[in-house]
Amino acid sequence: MKIRKTLESVKPYVAGRTRPGAVKLSSNENPLGPSPKALTAISSELNHLHRYPDGVSGILRETIASHHNLTADYVIAGNGSDEIFAMIAGTYLEEGFEVITAKETFSEYNFSGLLYGGHIKKVPLQEGKYDLKSILDQVTEKTSLIFVCNPNNPTGTYLKEKELKEFLDALPSHVLTILDEAYGEFATAEDFPSGQELIKSNKRLIVTHTFSKLYGLAGLRIGYALADPTLIEQIFRTKQAFNVNILAQQAGTAALGDQNFISRTLDLCKKGKTFLYGELKRLGYDYYPSQANFICIRVKRDSRAVFDHFLDEGMAIRPLASFGLDEWIRYTIGTEDQNREFIRIMSELEKA
Ligand SMILES: Cc1ncc(COP(=O)(O)O)c(C=O)c1O
Repeated sequence: MKIRKTLESVKPYVAGRTRPGAVKLSSNENPLGPSPKALTAISSELNHLHRYPDGVSGILRETIASHHNLTADYVIAGNGSDEIFAMIAGTYLEEGFEVITAKETFSEYNFSGLLYGGHIKKVPLQEGKYDLKSILDQVTEKTSLIFVCNPNNPTGTYLKEKELKEFLDALPSHVLTILDEAYGEFATAEDFPSGQELIKSNKRLIVTHTFSKLYGLAGLRIGYALADPTLIEQIFRTKQAFNVNILAQQAGTAALGDQNFISRTLDLCKKGKTFLYGELKRLGYDYYPSQANFICIRVKRDSRAVFDHFLDEGMAIRPLASFGLDEWIRYTIGTEDQNREFIRIMSELEKA
């Protein structure tokens, strides 16, 4: 059987490799586990599993909307933000048209573009950061979508409000930008842009979020997009009838109100970052200051060998060779004990 031509260059997603029993700090998941309020909400929903879920995720979208000071018509929910990216590409990308993103960034943008026959242009980062000027230079009449990850996975670097606004203003009117704020909740920089504010005055911008990181619900698959209602209505046309399952809808709704868990998660991340920065400096390793829940570290040797060494020591981290960053690893900030163990293994790398 012949597959569609566009799929010839699509390779299956390769998740971070791990080993049974290893501590997994390779996928930027929440080291505290799932939101407790989400767990309670799920258990009270188990008796309803014979029912179909609400196809438009009404209550979840209302809750997300009020969380962002918007109304529900600004929100669409998906089976993870990965599904949202594919829905956006399915809505706007004509075959042969262009998708622009960074070279060293989250791979699902590339996947969604290829799925719908897009021509993907990848612009290298500049000192770990999205190079907005070079991205602008790549825009042509055939450019449909630009994916921007802020803060960027895997570097943790961020685009400032002013530079992002200037970039958006400079884009021609036929280009739609997707601003992925999967890690935006962890950002503390004062000049970190607020996607939810930007969409109010920009009808060519879609902002995406996930419940997989801060809320600890990666296994349930819940993501969402915020955009002007005209865009949301267009994206809705590609939505599968029941795309967000019943447990996910309940869990997401509850997790948004789990203030105690949210505060504990952010606090752990902040303290861990301070500890790790200090220790990495002491050991002489360069890293990118991060606005996310992970740190991108230069290990000065093949990251795959470092990954194997970590795995032998019982910890899975992410080697960044697949992102084109051969000598870099990404470490998800863990609990205090996990961070100490990470530093212990790092400090013995020289001898390995
Ligand atoms: C930048 C970025 N966006 C989106 C996602 C995926 O989110 P979801 O689990 O909601 O599909 C990830 C997951 O690692 C990510 O790193």
